[in-house]
Amino acid sequence: MTVRTAPVALPAMRSTADRPFGIYIHVPFCATRCGYCDFNTYTPSELGGANPDGWLTALAVELEQAARHLGTAPEVSTVFVGGGTPSLLGGAGLTAVLDALRGSFSLAPDAEVTTEANPESTSPRLFEQLRAAGYTRVSLGMQSTAPHVLATLDRTHSPGRALAAAREAAAAGFDHVNLDLIYGTPGETDDDLLRSVDAAVAAGVDHLSAYALVVEDGTAMARRVRRGELAMPDDDVLARRYELLDAQLSAASFAWYEVSNWSRPGGECLHNIGYWNGGEWWGAGPGAHGFVDAVRWWNVKHPANYARHLGDGMLPIADYERLDADTMHVEDVMLRVRLRDGLPLGVLTASERRRVDALVGDGLLRRLGDRLVLTDRGRLLADAVVRDLLD
Ligand SMILES: C[S@@+](CC[C@H](N)C(=O)[O-])C[C@H]1O[C@@H](n2cnc3c(N)ncnc32)[C@H](O)[C@@H]1O
Ligand code: SF4
Repeated sequence: MTVRTAPVALPAMRSTADRPFGIYIHVPFCATRCGYCDFNTYTPSELGGANPDGWLTALAVELEQAARHLGTAPEVSTVFVGGGTPSLLGGAGLTAVLDALRGSFSLAPDAEVTTEANPESTSPRLFEQLRAAGYTRVSLGMQSTAPHVLATLDRTHSPGRALAAAREAAAAGFDHVNLDLIYGTPGETDDDLLRSVDAAVAAGVDHLSAYALVVEDGTAMARRVRRGELAMPDDDVLARRYELLDAQLSAASFAWYEVSNWSRPGGECLHNIGYWNGGEWWGAGPGAHGFVDAVRWWNVKHPANYARHLGDGMLPIADYERLDADTMHVEDVMLRVRLRDGLPLGVLTASERRRVDALVGDGLLRRLGDRLVLTDRGRLLADAVVRDLLD
């Protein structure tokens, strides 16, 4: 791909009428950086003069330009404010984010509007302000209740704070609350994980995400693992942890609806389902990615550059690519096979369909009507299933 100098002009595009349309808003601020995280986020000393007020002004301009770029701006069915740490903006800041969005787009009356939040920067008052502003869902980064796991992850909240925050959100009127867990942190035991899941369920939430810890290149954690200070668990341990947490969640009436996501009935995250099911979205904020009309683009990463380009009246596009039919097909299979609803057989090519019998015979996939759904064992080996299936 040719490297272009940002900002790059985004091609003309029209959203597809029969697909849900979402907006992702990236808040690129964190108080401190967790050693395992390589998300596009900045601590105060890394901001180079950028700040939340400048980000908010630039965000409102980006959303205005986005609506103009799309021509007839589609009705927004889901919003996800993620980070970084959106809760650092406080109630007034997160209210202003939705005001900016409503200034340029119309939100469906029943839109799902989520914000992520770090437990240590939440309070009962914040949740009340979020409800009043129109947020319908909160996603809290709990990770674990084991103090030594939180310490290894550099998380600054106490084991009880995430649970208290979940209860405060429910008391403020949030019917939909998610807790994010990480499993497979060095030093974590099976019991640590089971206790964390128990505590999360007892907090009364309707959604749980659990991802295995990924050691990202270039992070402080990767350096510690390389120096031998931290020992990562092997794949058998990770598979056992996944089975343990799935069994415990099933016993508590949670059902998986994507390999790493469980909910009570009606608690599924519609915004993420949009990503996995070929929906379209505008990604606003530094480093955010968007996907509309077979075009995928991403914004410049640093908040100072982001604000500068928008201050100059230009969308802050770092680059884009037009996805061809083959790439769309690969992504479609990769994402949809991970869903409880499974992959419609009709999506597969004739040669891919010929490989299905072997995967069913190996106990990794099962047929449910005209769909293919991962078995319990298949969920542990989802990436391998995709590799075996694709041309
Ligand atoms: C990027 S954070 C943003 C929200 C918030 N700051 C938080 O930490 O919860 C979203 C989720 O991604 C998870 N995450 C980030 N880096 C990860 C990694 N290397 N492996 C697994 N999960 C990761 C975080 O733990 C968090 O639950
Ligand atoms: S608080 Fe969340 S976004 Fe910020 S560094 Fe930690 S994991 Fe990453």
